[in-house]
Amino acid sequence: MDRIYVLLLTWFSMTFHTVSSDECLCGDNLVVVKLYRHDLSLNLSDVDEFYDVDVSNDSITDLQNLLLSSLTSIRHRILHLDLSYNDIQQVQRSFFTALPKLRSIVLSANNISAVDKDVFMDARCLQTIDISRNNIEQLPTGLLGKQGEVMRIKKFDASHNQIRSIGSELFHKGLIYLKNVDISYNNMEYFDSWPYKTKSIDQNGLSGCPIDVDVSSLRYNSISAVGYTFNLSHNNISYFKNDAELKPGQQKNFIVDLTFNNLKDFAGCVKALNAETPSDIAVLHLELNNNPWFCDCSVYDVARKVSNSVYMEQARTYLYCHDPPDLQNKSFGYLMENTDKLICNVSDDCPAGCLCQERPSESLLAVDCSMVKTLTELPYRLPKYPRISLNVSGNQIQIIAARRYAHALIRLDVSGNKLINIHPKFFDETKMLTFVDLSNNSLTSLPITLRNLRIPLSDVRVGNNSLICSCDTLWMNEWLKETNGTNLTCTVDGNVQNMDSVTYNSLTCYRDILLIACFVSVGLLCVVIISVAVVYKYRYETSVLLYHTFGVRPFDKPKQEQSMDVEEEAPVFTNDVYISSNRQNPKIIGWVTKKLLPKLENFNKTCYYPPKDDIPGDSIADVITSAMESSRNILVILDDSKLDKDWCMEEFYMGHNIAGKVILVLFDSPTKFEDIETEPIKTYINRQDYIQMNHKLFWPKLEYELSKGN
Ligand SMILES: *[C@@H]1O[C@H](CO)[C@@H](O)[C@H](O)[C@H]1NC(C)=O
Ligand SMILES: *[C@@H]1O[C@H](CO)[C@@H](O)[C@H](O)[C@H]1NC(C)=O
Ligand SMILES: *[C@@H]1O[C@H](CO)[C@@H](O)[C@H](O)[C@H]1NC(C)=O
Ligand SMILES: *[C@@H]1O[C@H](CO)[C@@H](O)[C@H](O)[C@H]1NC(C)=O
Ligand SMILES: *[C@@H]1O[C@H](CO)[C@@H](O)[C@H](O)[C@H]1NC(C)=O
Ligand SMILES: *[C@@H]1O[C@H](CO)[C@@H](O)[C@H](O)[C@H]1NC(C)=O
Ligand SMILES: *[C@@H]1O[C@H](CO)[C@@H](O)[C@H](O)[C@H]1NC(C)=O
Ligand SMILES: *[C@@H]1O[C@H](CO)[C@@H](O)[C@H](O)[C@H]1NC(C)=O
Ligand SMILES: *[C@@H]1O[C@H](CO)[C@@H](O)[C@H](O)[C@H]1NC(C)=O
Ligand SMILES: *[C@@H]1O[C@H](CO)[C@@H](O)[C@H](O)[C@H]1NC(C)=O
Ligand SMILES: *[C@@H]1O[C@H](CO)[C@@H](O)[C@H](O)[C@H]1NC(C)=O
Ligand SMILES: *[C@@H]1O[C@H](CO)[C@@H](O)[C@H](O)[C@H]1NC(C)=O
Repeated sequence: MDRIYVLLLTWFSMTFHTVSSDECLCGDNLVVVKLYRHDLSLNLSDVDEFYDVDVSNDSITDLQNLLLSSLTSIRHRILHLDLSYNDIQQVQRSFFTALPKLRSIVLSANNISAVDKDVFMDARCLQTIDISRNNIEQLPTGLLGKQGEVMRIKKFDASHNQIRSIGSELFHKGLIYLKNVDISYNNMEYFDSWPYKTKSIDQNGLSGCPIDVDVSSLRYNSISAVGYTFNLSHNNISYFKNDAELKPGQQKNFIVDLTFNNLKDFAGCVKALNAETPSDIAVLHLELNNNPWFCDCSVYDVARKVSNSVYMEQARTYLYCHDPPDLQNKSFGYLMENTDKLICNVSDDCPAGCLCQERPSESLLAVDCSMVKTLTELPYRLPKYPRISLNVSGNQIQIIAARRYAHALIRLDVSGNKLINIHPKFFDETKMLTFVDLSNNSLTSLPITLRNLRIPLSDVRVGNNSLICSCDTLWMNEWLKETNGTNLTCTVDGNVQNMDSVTYNSLTCYRDILLIACFVSVGLLCVVIISVAVVYKYRYETSVLLYHTFGVRPFDKPKQEQSMDVEEEAPVFTNDVYISSNRQNPKIIGWVTKKLLPKLENFNKTCYYPPKDDIPGDSIADVITSAMESSRNILVILDDSKLDKDWCMEEFYMGHNIAGKVILVLFDSPTKFEDIETEPIKTYINRQDYIQMNHKLFWPKLEYELSKGN
């Protein structure tokens, strides 16, 4: 008997392996008759009737038996079959192969613990599958048809089972009629992007009747069916997956019910589904209430983005926080308006007993050690963060020493400690500090580096310290005077004074100034004395330079007798300079004509140079004498050549005798003239009363000498 039946089934399945709309009996004008258990023994021979068979609550354990004993004659005309409340443990593919027109199967409340993936493979007309209230643990891929194959399933109910896993391809784009999926009350621990993998056609006016559809022509994710639900409520879902790596698309009008699960990490969930923008999140259509959401800093970015988007109003009741305690029952709307409440406790590197909180709304890490009470120095190490606010108020800290995290400090509260000293380098590093509280300590002074930070004075607290005001710390008074509201005092010679009244004058700081002035004067005096000594030693050079530079002659003795003479009868000179030199030495002639004469012209001196100016024919001696007499100065250029020396000497004598107007220029080194015995030239040499031609100051000296007589 069984064997014959199996053969029959094989034939059935060959006949029905392709099913057209026609074979699923499309149309609304079918006559459907409800049959109960007791009706099945009747002679049902009307070929135009179709049946809705209810054999629920009938202690059925074996489907094969049922088929052979009661359903064989009508199996081609069964559209609906209710097998709920029985003791069925197994469902086989062959059972559904024998019911080719079946549209809905209810297997609810049985004892099924597993379903094979091909069990509904031949039930091509199935629209409703109810396998709820069993002990099913897994829904394998393929149970609802092969990937991409068009299926007519509209409703799938697997609620109230023990389902722990769902094949990632169970829901696929061939399920174009799918409208209700119920997997509530199961043991799922994760949510995958199942709902977004189905495509859907507009079912208006279709009344569930299948048509042949080319799935690839459907716009991806174009679900428009109103009332589409994907129910995953009352599971144990705590995280999201996206195994098929689908991006959320344009889903509309459906609900993914994730209420009553175990979801805590909102940011992690939406991130797993690649939902980065508020609209990405919105198209997921997730219902997320009644989950133990933990609202910490990770929600900050989402809350901020949503609150700036068009979804703001819609998102207000999106989820309610369960933790931390101060945010319990707070809505997403509340979070959007109070993003400062979204904080994270950081434990890595957080000093023992302190509370380290990441606060993205202020983009800083707040470290609060005020409750420790026993710190004796600033924490050595803090969690690495670019901006840190540190509160160590009410501890026992005596010294603020340098710290590596100083550069990151935004706020620092060291009030109510035992501070006596602050390392001056500390405030060199705290370039970002905008608030500092050092009040209620025992500081006697503040490091000047604190002032250099340019913190607004309203954010500098130094009240109730033991500040000592002195001339050295006067900057402090001047600086702090402008702090608002604080009644600052400081100690001057043991007396507490209001800082306002402590001034430069009240501290008589000028005494110091006097002392400094004294030191400076002594120093200056020394410099002057040394200068005078130097000037005295080189007084001639000094005179020359002074004259050359400023045109003054401060060291000249007043020529009183001379001036008397001058008053009586001023001599009349036609030339300023008479130049007496060796007329045979071409070097000297060259020098005189090329250098000396132009230079004298520069000095505005008129010259008499015999080789140029002698009038031929006149007695040479007479000419020379008169020329010399009418010259203010006689410039004698002496070289060491013996030649013509007599002549030279003669001119020298004349010049010397005519009122001592000789200016002696040595054309060679003075050593060459040391052995001269002839007076008065010897005296000139010995007294160094000459100008050396090679001397650095030759021209200034010459100018100086020539100007003497004026
Ligand atoms: C059922 O009806 C058919 C014809 O309609 C008849 O031949 C047959 O004997 C009937 N059987 C019973 C048990 O009444
Ligand atoms: C099943 O049938 C029994 C007795 O016939 C009844 O007491 C019980 O309520 C029924 N259960 C359901 C779920 O219908
Ligand atoms: C369900 O089936 C299991 C075996 O799979 C059996 O042990 C159990 O008794 C059944 N439960 C009921 C209520 O029939
Ligand atoms: C999902 O199932 C639960 C439990 O049956 C029900 O309360 C809820 O309304 C369902 N959600 C939707 C969207 O239908
Ligand atoms: C829910 O899932 C968590 C793991 O996320 C697990 O520890 C817990 O036992 C599960 N609860 C139930 C009732 O299955
Ligand atoms: C949160 O809401 C639930 C139910 O709405 C209520 O029972 C609970 O007391 C509320 N908790 C707080 C802290 O308001
Ligand atoms: C951080 O820790 C404090 C103290 O332990 C606690 O009150 C608060 O709820 C925690 N906040 C978060 C977001 O973890
Ligand atoms: C530091 O902590 C104390 C005690 O909790 C608090 O009064 C004070 O306002 C805090 N300082 C800052 C700057 O927040
Ligand atoms: C000053 O500081 C000390 C020590 O912190 C504190 O005990 C005292 O109350 C403070 N006084 C005032 C007036 O703030
Ligand atoms: C001091 O307070 C006054 C009034 O409260 C305010 O206008 C002024 O800006 C404050 N000055 C500083 C330096 O904080
Ligand atoms: C100093 O501490 C006392 C008590 O601890 C407090 O009342 C006072 O406001 C503090 N003073 C300052 C300037 O912070
Ligand atoms: C400042 O302190 C002095 C003396 O302690 C007091 O008279 C004055 O009222 C205080 N001023 C303010 C603004 O607190």
